[in-house]
Amino acid sequence: MENGTLNSIFTLKSTRKFAKKEIPCAILDTILNAALRAGNSGNRQVYSIIVIEDPKLLKKYFYGGNKALVFVIDFYRWLHLAKKLGYKIADSIDGLRGFTISSMDAMLAAQNAALAAQSLGIGSLFTTSLHREDMKEVYKILNFPTKYCFPYLSLCLGYSEEKEKPLKGRIKKGVIHYGSYSRLTSAEMDEIIAEHDDDKNNLGFVSEAQRIKEGYDHALSLYFDKWSKPQPVEEIRNFYQAIKESGFLEVDKFLS
Ligand SMILES: Cc1cc2nc3c(=O)[nH]c(=O)nc-3n(C[C@H](O)[C@H](O)[C@H](O)COP(=O)(O)O)c2cc1C
Repeated sequence: MENGTLNSIFTLKSTRKFAKKEIPCAILDTILNAALRAGNSGNRQVYSIIVIEDPKLLKKYFYGGNKALVFVIDFYRWLHLAKKLGYKIADSIDGLRGFTISSMDAMLAAQNAALAAQSLGIGSLFTTSLHREDMKEVYKILNFPTKYCFPYLSLCLGYSEEKEKPLKGRIKKGVIHYGSYSRLTSAEMDEIIAEHDDDKNNLGFVSEAQRIKEGYDHALSLYFDKWSKPQPVEEIRNFYQAIKESGFLEVDKFLS
């Protein structure tokens, strides 16, 4: 594709096997600058990016990438800038609303980083792996302020060591709606189920032969059965406790 931007968008895929090769500083810096160029609410940049370079952390949390970027919901810096100028603005974060706004900033920056990396020949993988960990430990290791900071999405980066693999397909039917929301008919659902079942669309993670061997008639059954089991309660509690302590779960005062 001649258009470089579209080329990066249409060739981006997840990398899960990273080479030991170092990402040069200048390239990492370009990726970070690309992240910063993303749109953000009121140009406040209420997020942070932690660059992870420690090999132990990269191995433990970030799929052995050569670097990882942790995109953080972050009003801490903003509040402290306000405080320095004599303002108290904690109420203006609006709890979960602030979290939502900041998460949008963080996600747009993360996608910019992934696309910039792709255009520079660097593979990437988004992960929420930190949410599956002991988050108290994560806060400690990354020196996060407890309040008004929450690690959101991470992007593992590195040169790919994967064999050439086809792009994962995407479903369009039922995802894009023109004018207003359209509910799927039964026939349309059958079409989507069939799209998932067809190996050549490469939508899932196991082949048709494998899923039949595992006793599943449909690829989606794998998602809805095997992969939709409740997560360990401890893991979920961990996640909610960290959000609660961050102060972003305050919604009741706006609803009473
Ligand atoms: C929010 C988010 C979290 C993800 N977490 C993981 C993860 O923990 N482990 C993983 O192997 N892939 C993870 N992925 C990658 C997705 O599985 C991948 O994007 C999807 O299967 C589509 O494949 P593609 O990126 O190759 O097109 C994540 C992606 C996103 C956007």
